[in-house]
Amino acid sequence: MFDLKGKVAIITGGSSGIGASAVSMFHQLGAKVTIGDIQAEQGEALASELGDLVRFSRLDVTDPSAWERTVHETESAFGPVNILVNNAGHGGHRKSIQDLSLGSGLIDHNQKMTVAAIAMADMKVWAQRS
Ligand SMILES: NC(=O)c1ccc[n+]([C@@H]2O[C@H](COP(=O)([O-])OP(=O)(O)OC[C@H]3O[C@@H](n4cnc5c(N)ncnc54)[C@H](O)[C@@H]3O)[C@@H](O)[C@H]2O)c1
Repeated sequence: MFDLKGKVAIITGGSSGIGASAVSMFHQLGAKVTIGDIQAEQGEALASELGDLVRFSRLDVTDPSAWERTVHETESAFGPVNILVNNAGHGGHRKSIQDLSLGSGLIDHNQKMTVAAIAMADMKVWAQRS
């Protein structure tokens, strides 16, 4: 298994499901983790269960200003961010590809999340290089 000691990770959608499992696994491997999610109650409960090296930050990943706040809070608490797990999204829609349209709210929402997260990650990578 990987050793993530000293690494700082933001895991979006970390309050439940796959993201919450990733939070627990990263914590077990030694990382300091910020759970970025809109579900505060579950995220805060998971953070307090795992201890001081896991924190919750309210983050709507479609909102660039929320990203800035979460990154700032993470860096203030843990130092520069090394890892982004871009997991937040809306799962569980068991439709075939033929039943989805490009105008569907699901696709629009998940695309906005992805673009906002990639823009944030890109900005941070460039900031750390300079
Ligand atoms: N479970 C599956 O079978 C499956 C299959 C394919 C893809 N996925 C993808 O994997 C990811 C996780 O899926 P899951 O099954 O754990 O889903 P889940 O619904 O259990 O968890 C998704 C998490 O994302 C959070 N979230 C939703 N919108 C958000 C937003 N705007 N900002 C921040 N957080 C937000 C939710 O609050 C939730 O905690 C999703 O992106 C999903 O689309 C899941």
